[in-house]
Amino acid sequence: MKKLVSVLLSVAMVAVLLTGCGGGSASGAKKVGVSMPTKDLQRWNQDGANMEKELKAAGYEVDLQFAANDVQQQLSQVENMISNGCDVLVIAAIEGSSLGEALDMAKKANIPVIAYDRLIMNSDAVSYYATFDNYKVGTVQGQYVVDTLDLDNAAGPFNIEFTAGDPGDNNAGFFFNGAMDAVKKYIDEGKLNVVSGQKTFEEVATPTWGTDVAQSRAENILSSFYADGTELDVWLCSNDSTALGVENALAANYKGKYPIITGQDCDIENTKNMIAGKQSMSVFKDTRTLASQVVKMVGQILSNQTVDVNDTTTYDNGVKVVPSFLCEPVFADANNYKQILIESGYYTEDQLK
Ligand code: BGC
Repeated sequence: MKKLVSVLLSVAMVAVLLTGCGGGSASGAKKVGVSMPTKDLQRWNQDGANMEKELKAAGYEVDLQFAANDVQQQLSQVENMISNGCDVLVIAAIEGSSLGEALDMAKKANIPVIAYDRLIMNSDAVSYYATFDNYKVGTVQGQYVVDTLDLDNAAGPFNIEFTAGDPGDNNAGFFFNGAMDAVKKYIDEGKLNVVSGQKTFEEVATPTWGTDVAQSRAENILSSFYADGTELDVWLCSNDSTALGVENALAANYKGKYPIITGQDCDIENTKNMIAGKQSMSVFKDTRTLASQVVKMVGQILSNQTVDVNDTTTYDNGVKVVPSFLCEPVFADANNYKQILIESGYYTEDQLK
């Protein structure tokens, strides 16, 4: 009997060494490390909370960390998750290309990595990617402008400015390209006029996606190009944190007809602005859907089942095309927000007051 126990113990220790991560928690439950970029933005708090809730309900132990938009902090949090024994890592990277050392560690320890919402770049350690269709997010924003201004029929020209996301976030280029592809034809025809002349991703990007960063660029543009009374018809923003910056800048620096403003995430502040007529639309990405999909992925990975993916061509991270599951983004505005955001239980009516 003693011998059997010691053989079993040795087998268990070899298994620990081979998996490199202690096979999960003391309770025997598998452990999932969830690394989120920041608590500053509403959406990541929701993503983190949804992931934690769903993973716990599915019987996993969860190590959830937020990294204050600080790459070094995220790196050491992920390294700790690995040394503390996790079975799967789910990472929404602050900067897609800056997690190299942690990813090498994960690979050595045979820990599968799921890139959450943002693709992890230049690494073969990333196993799967779960996100929303990022190009489509941009297309929905661009098409909204085309339809609202009726660009195929209206004479124009209309004045437009752009604000895109963080160059360190692989999603930002997809959003911008999707939107630009929808409106480019009208810029080329002269029906849309970019008054500042700033229309490349590099010129309109917003490092860190910061509201303050977007606001000061918008203030500069308004004072340099619109202070003489030039009317602004559209400000195409890639997401809500940047749209908020533009909305703040307009409130203080622009007296003309209020422009169309696009966004993404349906953050509470922006949804309130939508209801108040200060933001025209926001692309809604239901973080509950993404969390459920990722929890399903975790289960499939840990039980060696085929992992559900629906895109195996789009997301090349520089080293490999990462098999991806893309969730569908949805269009939201002041007319349908009750149905999409309140009736679905995403927000209560009180949260939007
Ligand atoms: C996400 C957006 C978010 C942005 C800023 C992107 O990677 O896809 O939903 O607005 O980051 O946090």
